[in-house]
Amino acid sequence: MAPRVIVGISGASGAAIGLRIVEILDGLGAETHVVVSRAAERTFLEEVGPDALSRLRASGRHWHAIDNIGATIASGSFPTRGMIVAPCSMRTLAAIALSLADNLLVRTADVQLKERRPLVLVARETPLHLGHLRAMTAATEAGAIVMPPVPAFYLKPATVAEIIDQIARRAIDCLRLFEPVAAQWQGASLHAPSQQGSLDNSPPPGLADPNQPTRILGVSDP
Ligand SMILES: Cc1cc2nc3c(=O)[nH]c(=O)nc-3n(C[C@H](O)[C@H](O)[C@H](O)COP(=O)(O)O)c2cc1C
Repeated sequence: MAPRVIVGISGASGAAIGLRIVEILDGLGAETHVVVSRAAERTFLEEVGPDALSRLRASGRHWHAIDNIGATIASGSFPTRGMIVAPCSMRTLAAIALSLADNLLVRTADVQLKERRPLVLVARETPLHLGHLRAMTAATEAGAIVMPPVPAFYLKPATVAEIIDQIARRAIDCLRLFEPVAAQWQGASLHAPSQQGSLDNSPPPGLADPNQPTRILGVSDP
């Protein structure tokens, strides 16, 4: 049976990350269930374009209306392998942290937590105030993985699409459902000559210790 995964997309900046996660899950053969908040409909329009939602609603995916709290995914009796909320707004983060299950996205996230299933929150806001940080702490204490959409600069992304793709893959790897799909750090010597002119191309001190075994940054990266 194809692994059943839920993707919730809320109205923080970075709607393209949610879309990319769904596309990658399709490629991995997952049975993908999608729920999009009303604010996310707006960010899709602003950030991705007028056809973004129709791309997301492509056939083969299970689409659930945000108000349909009677949907299958709203019940713990409906087996799933976990959920990613990407991007996760501070409103949705706070609602999840407090079990304010007033829409299908938050209810479904709450179900993952109560059933002790993986829940990955790609929480996006900057800078953060104490209330945001407290909500992240509460969500983490309840069992969620908070994964802000931070670019992997050490992989030297050349385009925004590469940054989006890497973040999407790291979020999927957090579910620990498939073989890791994100690009991995292959290690580097602190003493390696620079590859880019006068730029120091080596990772920050401490990342690659020549006396330690090669460290792979991937799904096992804390
Ligand atoms: C273009 C745009 C970008 C936004 N970016 C963020 C953001 O990065 N983080 C955030 O928490 N809210 C952001 N918001 C505000 C949320 O959309 C708003 O708080 C909304 O009520 C969230 O609802 P939801 O959690 O149900 O999706 C943004 C709104 C717009 C229109």
